[in-house]
Amino acid sequence: MRILVTQTIDESGMARLNSAGLDVDVWLGSSPIPRDELLRRVSGCVGIIPMPTDLIDGQVMDAADLSVIANHAVGTDNVDLAAAAARGILVTNTPDVLTDATADLAMALLLSAARRVVEGDALVRSGDFEGWCPTLLRGTDLAGATLGIVGKGRIGSAVAHRAAAFGMEIIHSSRTSGLPLEALLESADVVSLHCPLTAATHHLIDATALGRMKKTAILINTARGPVVDEAALVSALSTGQIAAAGLDVYEAEPQVHPGLIELHNVVLLPHLGSATRATRRHMADLVADNLIAVLGGHPPLNPVTAECP
Ligand code: GLV
Repeated sequence: MRILVTQTIDESGMARLNSAGLDVDVWLGSSPIPRDELLRRVSGCVGIIPMPTDLIDGQVMDAADLSVIANHAVGTDNVDLAAAAARGILVTNTPDVLTDATADLAMALLLSAARRVVEGDALVRSGDFEGWCPTLLRGTDLAGATLGIVGKGRIGSAVAHRAAAFGMEIIHSSRTSGLPLEALLESADVVSLHCPLTAATHHLIDATALGRMKKTAILINTARGPVVDEAALVSALSTGQIAAAGLDVYEAEPQVHPGLIELHNVVLLPHLGSATRATRRHMADLVADNLIAVLGGHPPLNPVTAECP
């Protein structure tokens, strides 16, 4: 049984795939597999382990003979779930194992943006640091500030737990509970996004939403880039509509809006949410276990079902 792994994953997951006796093809490039290569290599495969950067749509499915798509991510917006369901292909993801790592990274961005860590680092390296100064790089206090969590699932809840330890007041807005988004945006000092990317959350944070936020507010996005209208964010950050942002994800990844690159009040990371050694090992183990279960005729550990249209 042939399977395709679209980027090098942790050795532990690879060992599980190999000891299951699978014929494993791995794309060894250090950047995402090109579309034509994906379509070529998936031919004859019964399973695929894609990365969140790989669009797995009906065309990819029809180029292969897939029983399972074991996505190497918790988010599955890169997979056409309806197309998979229509073809009887099972889709799985990697929940839970990356919750703490991603919540930690959201806190890293929050602290960096609030306390101007990257600007401070740049100042020291530039040689222009002239000594302690009462007005130098003043940031935002976290204790007593209000954190607005948008999408309070596993990761949003883990961020809330961490932020509470910093003395932040927590409010949230989700599909099923909490405040209306408008009310959250108006009262939060920090807004942190933790919702999945769906048709309903695409550009959830647009010019109007940014216009509701406080001028002192900070926006953190460790969810998916298209949840934020990046052009509107550039405008809000440049005009002082909001104070700062911390981003791990981008609208047209790996491209980043050139306006963001020029701004000092935004911290930019290269989609590192789950990037710790242990978490990536657990993710690789989980994708392997899901794929092996399905190909062995067993139920997957982490099935993902198509959303209602
Ligand atoms: C990464 O972005 C993931 O969804 O796991």
